[in-house]
Amino acid sequence: MASVAGFDDPAFYGDRWAGVYDEHHAEFDPAPAVEFLAGLAGDRRVLELAIGTGRVALPLAGRGIAVEGIDASAAMVERLRAKPGGASLPVVVGDMAEAPATGPFGLVYLVFNTLFGLLSQARQAACFRNVARVLGPGGVFVIECFVPDLSRFDRDQRVQARAVTEDSAILEVSRHDPVQQRVTTQIITFDGQGTHLRPVALRYSWPSELDLMAQQAGLRLRERYGGWDRQPFDSSSDGHVSVYGRD
Ligand SMILES: C[S@@+](CC[C@H](N)C(=O)[O-])C[C@H]1O[C@@H](n2cnc3c(N)ncnc32)[C@H](O)[C@@H]1O
Repeated sequence: MASVAGFDDPAFYGDRWAGVYDEHHAEFDPAPAVEFLAGLAGDRRVLELAIGTGRVALPLAGRGIAVEGIDASAAMVERLRAKPGGASLPVVVGDMAEAPATGPFGLVYLVFNTLFGLLSQARQAACFRNVARVLGPGGVFVIECFVPDLSRFDRDQRVQARAVTEDSAILEVSRHDPVQQRVTTQIITFDGQGTHLRPVALRYSWPSELDLMAQQAGLRLRERYGGWDRQPFDSSSDGHVSVYGRD
C-alpha cells in the first residue's frame, strides 16, 4: 500500500480508532445483520470487506460459516485476532478497493456505512469492480449504508454534544462539502486525561449512485430494504441494506 498520511491513507481510520473502537460502538447490536447474512451465505465462502475488529464476522463465523476478511488497518485486525475465534479467521491486510482477495465467494458484504470510507466516487466504483471480480456464480454483494440527510447541517456545519458526564464531554464537530459529497468529522473527548481527537471522513453516495456504480461493474440491484429486518425501503428510511448480484 502507498504510504500516504491522513484521510487518504486507507489505514488511517482504523489505526486511530482501534484502541477504542469496540467501546465506542458497543451499543450497535450485530445480531440482525448476522441473521440476514447467514441466510444468504448458506454453505458458501463469505468475505467481509473492512472486517475491523470482527463485530459482525465473529458471530457469523460462530454459526459455522466460512468467513474471511480484508481490512486496511493492522491495528484493527490485531484486535480481532485477540478475540475468541479471531486467530483462525483468514484476514488480508490491504485496501478493499484493490486488495487481491482470492474468490470465488458466495457472499461479499460491507456494512456500517464503510463503503463511504472510500473518499471518492472513483474509489467506490473500484470497490464494486473488485467485488464483481471475486463473486462466484449466484454470488451476492450486500452493503449497508445511510441515506444522506443534508438537513443535519446548518451552512454546511454541525456541532453535537454526544455525551456529557460528571468527568467528561464528547462533542462531534463536522463540516460538509456538498460538491465532494464529503463530511469530515472530529469526535472530541474531553476528560481527566486531556483532549482526544477521533477523526472520521466519509464520501456519501445516494442509493441511485450506488446502483449505477454496481451496474458499471456488471452487478444489478436485487433487493433493497430499510434495515436488516427487511423493513420496506421508502422516503422515510434513514439507511438501506442493498443486495446486488450479477446481471
Ligand atoms: C467503521 S469500521 C467497520 C468495521 C466492521 N465492519 C464493523 O462493522 O464493525 C471501518 C473499518 O474499515 C476499515 N477500512 C477503512 N478503509 C478501508 C479500506 N480502504 N480498505 C479496507 N479496510 C478499510 C477500517 O480499518 C475499519 O476497520
